[in-house]
Amino acid sequence: MSRGKVYIVGAGPGDPELITLKGLRILKEADVVLYDNLVPKELLGFAKEDAELIYVGKASGRHTVSQQRINELLVEKAKQGKHVVRLKGGDPLIFGRASEEMRALREASVDFEIVPGVTAASAACARAKVSLTSRDCASVLSFITGHRRGKEPLNLPYRELVGLDGTIVVYMGVSTCEQIAANLVKNGMPEDTPVLVACSIGLENERLIVTTLSELPVVKEREGIEPPALFIIGRVTKGCS
Ligand SMILES: C[S@@+](CC[C@H](N)C(=O)[O-])C[C@H]1O[C@@H](n2cnc3c(N)ncnc32)[C@H](O)[C@@H]1O
Repeated sequence: MSRGKVYIVGAGPGDPELITLKGLRILKEADVVLYDNLVPKELLGFAKEDAELIYVGKASGRHTVSQQRINELLVEKAKQGKHVVRLKGGDPLIFGRASEEMRALREASVDFEIVPGVTAASAACARAKVSLTSRDCASVLSFITGHRRGKEPLNLPYRELVGLDGTIVVYMGVSTCEQIAANLVKNGMPEDTPVLVACSIGLENERLIVTTLSELPVVKEREGIEPPALFIIGRVTKGCS
């Protein structure tokens, strides 16, 4: 039997055209595709007709398949000699649990490769025509998660983040954005710091909303912000003004 291999492929966010040529080629050759909730569904149409498509998505904490089971499936399928694609939204190495999958594959001596993808922050800023960094007002860029594991407190380094005086991108922050905004202000960030809320980027219901840290809770309520959404905090979102 030929040796199987796992490809952890970034599908990009929302817009199916954001996958790389390499990612698409590998997807077309796959025997098995394990895909997430935020993977553009149009991409699955590129898989071989007889490819096994396995949904392993997690929507807002509802885990249909546990991470442990996903790891096992990757190992099992590769050991059957299959060409396995683990298709993930955005870039697999940014808040994508790739580290857990890579560990399982290494431990099982399964060959694997990573194909990077466009992360949601890049796609959102491209849609908003905003630069994530700027020589004028943001020489540091922080990607943070607003997601807590179970009931654990968020414990973000707010004082340090404020001190960096750069751009902060919050992934998975819909349920905690008010708390994050309040803590940034408490630690010295001006209340009128602009925030770009980027919802469902590349999808039919895409929305880009500009607000401020102090207004964020009101805007979230009024606009009914739901995942997937990103909060891009910093002066870059208003052209450094
Ligand atoms: C589990 S993380 C995965 C991030 C992904 N690996 C990436 O690089 O974009 C999921 C979070 O990414 C952000 N996200 C992913 N797709 C998005 C989209 N189409 N529009 C806005 N935010 C998105 C949201 O913050 C969402 O809660």
